[in-house]
Amino acid sequence: MLGEAARLLARSKFAIAFTGAGISAESGVPTFRGPDGLWGHYRAEELATPEAFERDPHLVWKFYRWRMGLIAGVKPNRAHYALVELERMGLLKAVITQNVDDLHRKAGNRNLIELHGNIFHIRCPSCGYHKDIRESGRLDNFLAQKEVPRCPECGSVLRPDVVWFGEPLPREPLKGAFSLAGRADLVLVIGTSGVVYPAAYIPYTVWENGGSVIEVNTSESGITPIADVFLRGKSGEVMDGLLKKVRGVLNG
Ligand code: APR
Ligand code: ZN
Repeated sequence: MLGEAARLLARSKFAIAFTGAGISAESGVPTFRGPDGLWGHYRAEELATPEAFERDPHLVWKFYRWRMGLIAGVKPNRAHYALVELERMGLLKAVITQNVDDLHRKAGNRNLIELHGNIFHIRCPSCGYHKDIRESGRLDNFLAQKEVPRCPECGSVLRPDVVWFGEPLPREPLKGAFSLAGRADLVLVIGTSGVVYPAAYIPYTVWENGGSVIEVNTSESGITPIADVFLRGKSGEVMDGLLKKVRGVLNG
């Protein structure tokens, strides 16, 4: 299986990666679904929807400040670094991620599309003010505050710049992602349950165009039915093994 995946990847002309929360699990970032997923402990409807924010911005900010603090303290893992190496080798043209944890950027991937936003970005729903909260080293005191943050330009309550359930994905990243998927002859799908749309259309687009689908996951997902190769396992281990095999194939 690993050999077959390595051969497909080494032969590809335009490979992309599509990642979900599972790639960050080994960095200590909780996934959403599955046994100890966030949505098993919290109700997404109370924390990650525009209605929830409208109803109780304090609760939503408490949840996001907790997640920001947790994510600020974690590091990319071997799977993230394997994707950086594949990009450096010229084999991976882009990473399209559903994750908001910034770990692909921290690991060093250059060509990166964040479909669901970035947890360290905040924005004003009224005037469009937008900021990366880590700038000017203010993250710690931002996380220590209790009250909801207000826009310095217009005074409205600021929100995390992430996509909530029922919201449209940001136009440019979505356009970019589908154009990459339209050109790809291989998609490496890592650590996603593949049940959230429109993001999950990305691997399906590559598959519809006759491209190869390689999936890395600890269990089957909504993508497994279209996977040419399913590599069962933790993404860190599997991606390390895949990288070694690809090097072997390329060095003949
Ligand atoms: N290695 C590989 N895969 C893993 C690992 C691991 N160590 N740990 C968990 N997984 C797999 C799980 O089997 C599951 O298929 O990662 C997937 C995580 O699925 P979800 O928690 O549903 O995360 P994701 O697919 O990214 O969710 C998509 O849903 O809540 C929204 O916006 C949120 O971007 C998120 C979207
Ligand atoms: Zn404003």
